[in-house]
Order: sequence, then structure tokens, then C-alpha cells
Amino acid sequence: MIDRMRFPAAAAALAAALAAGMALPGAAQASEQLARKNACMSCHALDKKIVGPGFRDVAAELKKKGGEERALKAIVSGSKGAWSPVPMPPMKGVSEKDAKELAKWLAEGAR
Ligand code: HEC
Repeated sequence: MIDRMRFPAAAAALAAALAAGMALPGAAQASEQLARKNACMSCHALDKKIVGPGFRDVAAELKKKGGEERALKAIVSGSKGAWSPVPMPPMKGVSEKDAKELAKWLAEGAR
């Protein structure tokens, strides 16, 4: 009985959380969060250069050349000379699963 009374409240909270998530621009919030979680965003922003190039620019470049595979290689092995003399170190702390998801997200436009 208690469970039944609690259920609608939990459902309402979940619905509110989903609505809040959907109100944010872009469908791929999960992947931007993943980039944040993996410290990518300390060197990258979505739409401007910080230490590394903006992820939207990276996405456009990946579309022209290399796609998901190129992104994955940069995450796993690092990158140098593609954008500037400043190298990106291999991101050793990133799990294989996260690396693949991030590479896919970037290759698909970082939206
Ligand atoms: C210490 C700073 C730093 C961090 C942390 C960092 N990057 Fe980078 N990233 C760079 C720099 C600098 C470049 C440009 C390298 C170059 O010119 O080849 C770059 C380039 C890239 C590229 C483009 C590679 C290419 O071939 O054009 C991708 C993709 C990328 N980063 C993804 C990521 C992801 C995903 C993460 C988090 C897992 C991440 N980066 C974390 C500094 C960083």
C-alpha cells in the first residue's frame, strides 16, 4: 500500500527530470556530460577554442576526413599537428566504452 502511494510521486519526479533534460538545447546531452566527466571540457569547449579546438569545429573536420575512427585514435593515442603545434595527450583515464561513445558523438556533429 505504501509503495502504491509513493509511486505517483516518483513518476512525477522522473517526468519532471526528463522534461528538464529535454528543455536543454541539443539531443545528445548525455555525451556532452560524458565529455565533461572525462575531463575533455577542460581543454575543449563546444563552440570555441580553448587549449584544443572547439568540438563543433572538430566535428566538421571529422566529417570531411577520418570520422569516428580518427576521433577514437585522438582520444586513445593523442593528437599532434592536426590543428596547431599544441598536442593533445593520450587520454589514458577514459574507458574504452566512453572513448567509443565520445568518438561517435563527435563524428555525428557533437550535438
Ligand atoms: C590537455 C588538453 C586536452 C584534453 C584534456 C583533451 N584534449 Fe582533445 N585536443 C587537445 C588539443 C591541443 C588538440 C589539437 C591537437 C592537434 O593539433 O593535433 C585536440 C584535438 C582533439 C581532437 C581532434 C583530433 C584530430 O585528428 O583532428 C579530438 C577528436 C579530441 N581532441 C577529442 C578529445 C576528447 C574526446 C577528449 C576527452 C576524452 C579530449 N579531446 C581531451 C587538447 C585536449
